[in-house]
Amino acid sequence: MIQNEMKKSAGWAALEYVTKGSIVGVGTGSTVNYFIDALDTMKDQIKGVVSSSVISSERLDKIGIPIFDSNEVAYLDIYVDSADEINASKYMIKGGGAALTGEKIVAAIAKKFICIIDDTKKVDVLGRFPIPVEVIPMARSYVGRELVNLGGDPCYRHGCITDNGNVILDVHNLKIIDAKVLENKINAIAGVVTVGLFANRGADVVLEGTQKGVLKS
Ligand code: 5RP
Repeated sequence: MIQNEMKKSAGWAALEYVTKGSIVGVGTGSTVNYFIDALDTMKDQIKGVVSSSVISSERLDKIGIPIFDSNEVAYLDIYVDSADEINASKYMIKGGGAALTGEKIVAAIAKKFICIIDDTKKVDVLGRFPIPVEVIPMARSYVGRELVNLGGDPCYRHGCITDNGNVILDVHNLKIIDAKVLENKINAIAGVVTVGLFANRGADVVLEGTQKGVLKS
């Protein structure tokens, strides 16, 4: 089975967690696009969605699903999103699509994070995928130096401006010994908006599309 088919099967499997009359948190990326396709089939049974990014909002809007502002919603039952990497503790690296801040906010509002992945995303140790960090433009050099002090090799993502008008530094070669501690350390650097480590708020359920079907953990 090719990777896109595995993404698709995971995306469609998440439909099982969508309850009638609810507002659903929606992530960003090619796997989530399959979930949005699936959600289209039950759009008349849900109240609407809270979206994590402009690009997902455009797709949701096109199919006519009502989009709520995250400030209007006290909590969400579920948030469905993918990851660039996920480990056995359900800690993730996210932000390959530069939507990490919106994703972290919507995930924080949700009671349950359903992570939909193809089987290439499962790792024993996080960190092969560079850790995205969203940074306020005027802090770019300072944050870069601080990330070097933490042992990483930050790389400016050229041509990428986030939905919030910020830039992304992709940090290579950072040893992730304690993901929660590292997440807190990077978040504490002045000028950092969000780090794409999702350990303090990891996933609750993982739906992994594989050659043999969707595995749930
Ligand atoms: C976007 C993300 C995505 O969830 C992550 O990049 C995975 O994307 P895809 O489903 O396209 O493989 O964090 O910021």
